[in-house]
Amino acid sequence: MDSCSVAHVHQLLLFLSLASFCAVLSSGYLIHDSYAEEILSAAHQDKDWLISVRRRIHEYPELAFQEHNTSALIRTELDKLGIPYTYPLARTGIVAQIGSGSRPIVALRADMDALPLQELVEWSHKSKIEGRMHACGHDAHTTMLLGAAKLLNQRKHRLQGTVRLLFQPAEEGTAGALQMIKDGALKDAEAIFAVHVDYKTPTGAIASISGPFSAAGCIFVAKMIGKGGHAAEPNRNVDPVLATSFAILALQQLVSRESDPLYSIVLSITYVKASVALNVIPSYVEFGGTLRSQTTEGMYHFRQRIKEVIEAQAAAHRCSAHVDMKEETFAPYPAVVNDNKLHLHVKRVGQLLLGPENVREAKRVMAGEDFAFYQQVIPGAMFGIGIGNEEVGSVHSPHSPFFFLDEGVLPIGAALHTAIAELYLEDNQHSFVQ
Ligand code: NI
Repeated sequence: MDSCSVAHVHQLLLFLSLASFCAVLSSGYLIHDSYAEEILSAAHQDKDWLISVRRRIHEYPELAFQEHNTSALIRTELDKLGIPYTYPLARTGIVAQIGSGSRPIVALRADMDALPLQELVEWSHKSKIEGRMHACGHDAHTTMLLGAAKLLNQRKHRLQGTVRLLFQPAEEGTAGALQMIKDGALKDAEAIFAVHVDYKTPTGAIASISGPFSAAGCIFVAKMIGKGGHAAEPNRNVDPVLATSFAILALQQLVSRESDPLYSIVLSITYVKASVALNVIPSYVEFGGTLRSQTTEGMYHFRQRIKEVIEAQAAAHRCSAHVDMKEETFAPYPAVVNDNKLHLHVKRVGQLLLGPENVREAKRVMAGEDFAFYQQVIPGAMFGIGIGNEEVGSVHSPHSPFFFLDEGVLPIGAALHTAIAELYLEDNQHSFVQ
């Protein structure tokens, strides 16, 4: 064989292998295109229903562990769809289940609670409850999960395992997730996913990240006890106002002098209460605030240091101090740290449904999220789902009285939840022994 024919054979082989590679690619994309289209179009058919569910929840916001009407609404819709569920978990929580009933079991989670905040957006479905508002999008999270319940139920013959849907109460500060876990919500589940609406990402896109996503956090309240008396005779009293002032300044030095600059820590004093009289040295001062740390270990370390610094400043100023970390009511939140494999799964499904250009790298935040409790038990991934849309005015941060939702996100979220769960089960048939 001469060199010319060798080259010719090589070219032919290259052509054949490229042709078969392209066939695999094109058939793969064809399957995926139709798969994405099937789920997205089914979700879009439910758009009016999703909007009406979300508006009903939005109009009657309920605070942590009081989500009775929201929970009843979800159960009514699940009953209509014929989806079995367990109730109550964590007082108002619901766990629905779709699929074979056997493993693998993948969990999807939504939170249901609102905030003690007066809505200042004037629109036809504004909160009807004075001083309460769904200002963090939990009404949307619940609706998207209900939307996924409907889609998954329609497609249950395709599920190669079980999808468990967690509707949890009390995400905002009171660790509803922890109660859900104690009540068995994660039993035998091997992975968990959740979304949070994200106004910085445009509607139609998502943002995901591997590793740390949101911060660990805790709150504290301190009582600085001195000896009250006439403000004209400080020498006869022990001034807790001055001791508190020193303590607050000293606490800020923890951040500037003791924390690793490569790992973010935030310590904010948000509350100080002393005397109301201008000529009286009060007998005590109450103050408190919140600590946020990019790592769970950092949070526990500086939580201890907060106590030490306040007590030492109290002693230096002849006061005594009592520091209450309020863990009974407000359990310290660990950091949300996304499992890399699950993050890659979210990314792949996002690219499949929304296109590669609509999957972004999420930015880390110092806000807390009780999804972290689930991740302490099983691997989990939480990602941001875009609601940013200047045309509808959904450009305000969560916890703002002007927070507004682009309802266009609802079918997208329902479709993403569905595909994430369905494809997770498909990909993880090997990961357990029956
Ligand atoms: Ni939230």
